[in-house]
Amino acid sequence: MLFNKKIAFIGAGNMGEALLGGLLTAKLTDPANIIATDIRPERLQDLQNKWKIRTSLDNRQAAQDADVILLCVKPQTISEVLAQLKGIIRGEQLVISILAGITTDTITYALTGKNPVVRAMPNIPAVVQTAATAICMGKFAQEEHRLIATRIFQSIGQVEVVAETQMDVVTGLSGSGPSYIYMIIEALSDGGVLMGLPRDVATRLASQTVLGSARLVQETRIHPAVLRDQVTTPGGTAIAAIKELEASGLRPMLIRAVETATRRSKELSELLKQENGLE
Ligand SMILES: NC(=O)c1ccc[n+]([C@@H]2O[C@H](COP(=O)([O-])OP(=O)(O)OC[C@H]3O[C@@H](n4cnc5c(N)ncnc54)[C@H](OP(=O)(O)O)[C@@H]3O)[C@@H](O)[C@H]2O)c1
Repeated sequence: MLFNKKIAFIGAGNMGEALLGGLLTAKLTDPANIIATDIRPERLQDLQNKWKIRTSLDNRQAAQDADVILLCVKPQTISEVLAQLKGIIRGEQLVISILAGITTDTITYALTGKNPVVRAMPNIPAVVQTAATAICMGKFAQEEHRLIATRIFQSIGQVEVVAETQMDVVTGLSGSGPSYIYMIIEALSDGGVLMGLPRDVATRLASQTVLGSARLVQETRIHPAVLRDQVTTPGGTAIAAIKELEASGLRPMLIRAVETATRRSKELSELLKQENGLE
């Protein structure tokens, strides 16, 4: 489906490269169909050497001939980038944005006023093709655009389709989520070290435990509470530890973390609009 589509990556940092790398590794497209831009020539040279794609320092030139334009710059530079693209972009070109806090309407109306726009929120495990991405559709995005966007983000992990009003929650849960999980892995490793394990062994055991437990939830689709009960022997070690976790408020703590991050995402989105004079 993507094979003949020309795809322009506007901004090719961590996320841009993870995405184009995902597409090429999954053989969803050919390097000749991809062009990536950046403001640093040496960055573009690296990308060209590694992925054999075309590159350009000129966002307008890159976007001009593309069927799909993927906006992967930082939100702070979006007004400048949209101003560059306005005027050369055509109404039928699909624009996909991964910028946190920038709405589909903002992008649509800063361009032709009728482009199909898909907004996505991936997360950092994209670099190892294990991202959790949520996408939402702009006013003019149709089923074919949803399918294209889904296919692109499936090359770096799993995809959920949500309403745009839910994108702040997505940011608070899966967008920022890796940082919570890194703290959990680090703390589990600390526990292992406290009780006598070497650091490297403790970190490998902690991270594999998180990975394996998550895979079991995904592959069995059994409710996590049922899986927890299955490994909780009466009078055993797990229930003794669970008592500590409950007493220390692990659950409300994580719920509040998602709630707070969601609120902060909303605030930042508003600030971004004001600071960049966006609608
Ligand atoms: N990283 C995440 O976990 C994550 C998760 C979800 C969504 N996102 C979103 O993904 C976007 C990119 O994040 P990232 O982590 O990939 O950031 P990044 O590594 O800083 O990538 C942005 C790239 O765009 C380049 N750039 C700057 N101005 C440009 C311009 N005018 N035209 C073309 N390229 C330009 C930057 O070059 P320089 O480095 O030289 O400035 C950089 O290489 C952000 O909007 C963020 O909200 C990120």
